[in-house]
Amino acid sequence: MKQFQIRKDNFATTRLVETAPIVVETGDILLSIDQFSFTSNNITYAVMGEQLRYWQFFPSSRDELNEWGVIPVWGFATVLESKAEGVNIGERLFGYFPPSSQVKMTPVKVGPLSLFDGASHRADLPPGYNIYRRVDAELGYTTDMDAERMLLYPLFLTSFSLHDMLSDNDWFKADQVIIGSASSKTSIGLAYALHEDNAAPKVIGLTSQGNVESITKLGIYDTVFSYEQLESIDNQLAAVIVDMSANGQMLGRLHSHLTDNMHFCSNVGLTHWDNAQPGAGYIQERSEMFFAPSQIQKRMKEWGPEKFQQKSSEFIMRTSLKSRSWLTMNNIAGLDGLNEIYGEVCQGKIPPEQGIIVSL
Ligand SMILES: NC(=O)c1ccc[n+]([C@@H]2O[C@H](COP(=O)([O-])OP(=O)(O)OC[C@H]3O[C@@H](n4cnc5c(N)ncnc54)[C@H](OP(=O)(O)O)[C@@H]3O)[C@@H](O)[C@H]2O)c1
Repeated sequence: MKQFQIRKDNFATTRLVETAPIVVETGDILLSIDQFSFTSNNITYAVMGEQLRYWQFFPSSRDELNEWGVIPVWGFATVLESKAEGVNIGERLFGYFPPSSQVKMTPVKVGPLSLFDGASHRADLPPGYNIYRRVDAELGYTTDMDAERMLLYPLFLTSFSLHDMLSDNDWFKADQVIIGSASSKTSIGLAYALHEDNAAPKVIGLTSQGNVESITKLGIYDTVFSYEQLESIDNQLAAVIVDMSANGQMLGRLHSHLTDNMHFCSNVGLTHWDNAQPGAGYIQERSEMFFAPSQIQKRMKEWGPEKFQQKSSEFIMRTSLKSRSWLTMNNIAGLDGLNEIYGEVCQGKIPPEQGIIVSL
């Protein structure tokens, strides 16, 4: 078994570890991981590894001193061996996996369309991460949308939930939604949702200078500014900020610029993870962390899981298809290939119109 790991105290440092074959016991299945996506979202899992327990999903092999972490990824895997009732060799699952050649799981709540990993170390982690879709059983399933599902599903599900949260709060009485790190896929998904909604306020994107042109071209932001230009945003208009960057200095400047017109700041992401100290002017009392799994759980309770599933899936399918006009998949070979490109993802050097898919 081969596994990609990063040092928990310095996640620019990586290693590939080989271990003995995994032994499958009664009740377990062994999966061969086929493909997964890799974006800034995965880097955030590392940044929040301790705080939000992302390190807990997949224990690191050959790590006696507990120094290394395994970043979860979204992808597909095939059942290689099964000692679990109702799960067959050869079937494919979609869900949360380690960047490893193989993984062992303990299926529980095995239903026709899904199952959960009931491994004890995952029992108290958010259920949304422990569910696996039995894709072969899905009505009309083809592999045609696999790449979008790995890359965009977890991000656009968040975008869907963010739009829902904003709309549910009457846009925080704002006349503009300002999206930080506007070139990230989660932001683009939110911009799609707002663009489709006639009731939504206008949408301002904030991004790095080098991404302004390509993000403007998408045609879903009303205006795109670079971080350097953020004082050009109309501060006479009430604003709600949805931020994927966590760039403390930038947010401090933005809050200072908007002052009383900064109605609410939803802190969603950490793409600028190396710059996350809150800057002067940051308005803490009107800022709040957003955690998609909590919003999803809340809505599933209110709407019922079927309605939530139907509404969110329609949105994700529609916007994933739209994304084909600008998004190109960059296919990376194996964990060695991931190891080579990892630094570029970490430093935000992957062009926004590229999606990384690792095939093992
Ligand atoms: N709270 C939640 O529940 C939740 C759920 C899903 C996603 N998220 C978060 O949303 C964020 C976006 O994820 P994604 O996968 O959509 O991102 P992505 O598409 O990989 O975003 C890439 C963009 O992020 C910025 N970036 C990345 N690394 C950077 C670095 N080191 N320095 C400066 N800029 C950097 C750049 O955008 P700019 O030039 O535009 O800044 C870059 O174009 C992540 O932090 C993710 O964890 C949160």
